[in-house]
Amino acid sequence: MEFQEISWFRSAGAGMFIHWGVYSVIGRGEWAIQQERMPLDEYDRHIPKFSAENYDPDALAQFAKDAGMRYMVLTTKHHDGFCLFNTVTTHRNAVKQGPGRDLVKEYVEACRRHGLKVGLYFSLPDWSIQAFNDGPEDASQEAWKAFIGLIHEQVRELCANYGKIDVLWYDRAPNLEGVSALTVENLMARELNDMVRRLQPDILINDRSDLPEDFYTAEQNARPPETPERLWEACLTMNKHWGYFPADDMYKSAKEIVHTLTGIAMNRGNMLLNVGPEPDGTIGEPERERLQALGQWLAVHREAIENVSPGPVSGGTYGCSAIKGDSVYLYVHWWHGSSITIANCSMDFKAGKIMGTNHSVTIQRDVKHIKLVNLPLTAPDPLCTVIKLTIKQDCC
Ligand code: GLC
Repeated sequence: MEFQEISWFRSAGAGMFIHWGVYSVIGRGEWAIQQERMPLDEYDRHIPKFSAENYDPDALAQFAKDAGMRYMVLTTKHHDGFCLFNTVTTHRNAVKQGPGRDLVKEYVEACRRHGLKVGLYFSLPDWSIQAFNDGPEDASQEAWKAFIGLIHEQVRELCANYGKIDVLWYDRAPNLEGVSALTVENLMARELNDMVRRLQPDILINDRSDLPEDFYTAEQNARPPETPERLWEACLTMNKHWGYFPADDMYKSAKEIVHTLTGIAMNRGNMLLNVGPEPDGTIGEPERERLQALGQWLAVHREAIENVSPGPVSGGTYGCSAIKGDSVYLYVHWWHGSSITIANCSMDFKAGKIMGTNHSVTIQRDVKHIKLVNLPLTAPDPLCTVIKLTIKQDCC
């Protein structure tokens, strides 16, 4: 793989995850078939209400861009097996039923028009297929083979029919009995990914086919992988669910989202932030507000999260830090008032500035500690103020 292909991901900072499908009609996340044991025929009666009539992938891409995001990942098929793309493998797809449109094609084209990298989420499990629910032990050999053939063919279609795809985002889940039976072997994951790479030589594949592949995915947490060089991404919801769930109003504040982003960025990861559109494709106001706030913050602070590494100065009651070249960025999560102390700091700084302002910071040092003084009494940025310090070259 070309270095360039890796480097866009390394410096992306943030992307938009989109969980959208027939489950959005039900409005209780995306697991009703499994968690409520909703029979498939009852589930499929919701397909006509999956209208997509306000689905505007250009508007979605614009939201993502304005939020400072560099890529998007759309659920082309979730665990319910309903495909948002045109496929010969099943009539349970958005062209033949419901919207009557290839929602993936429209999405891919919109991403390209807006200069966003194209990510496709694809669930390897499929609760609509009996063989998957029976598992490889109990299903007949032919039935299991047919299931694996179906999965491989759907992935092939996604990789062959939509031009250049930048990210393939597999997912895993247990079957209806709660058993996680997919393995690298019974899924033929190596063969699957070899095919993907033949069709899409520059694609980045995540780790959920149970092979490590190109990048690690943390879910609902910001913990980096054990190998610091590994590409990684943390996917996060804004409330507590991925799919549309109007009863869930427990949204993270924009401030919490930005704090989390700084924690991910300083460890060289990306934040994949989820939206769960309504069945017609509308993005709800709480999500739009947060995307907008994130965009405003990133417009000023992108430099502070792009291509940085864990900070060389200790974190403390103020927050944490990152480094790039001769700059150290203090992510001040908790504003102290007129001064901030960086304890046990061996580094010296020749200048300091509060990003997004003209405020120069006065730096005092005693033998061990550094004190930033004459700071404004209240945080200059309501989400997260960043102080950029310039390292004295001959200091360390
Ligand atoms: C969890 C959810 C799944 C969702 C995924 C995103 O595994 O169960 O529905 O798509 O997270 O990472």
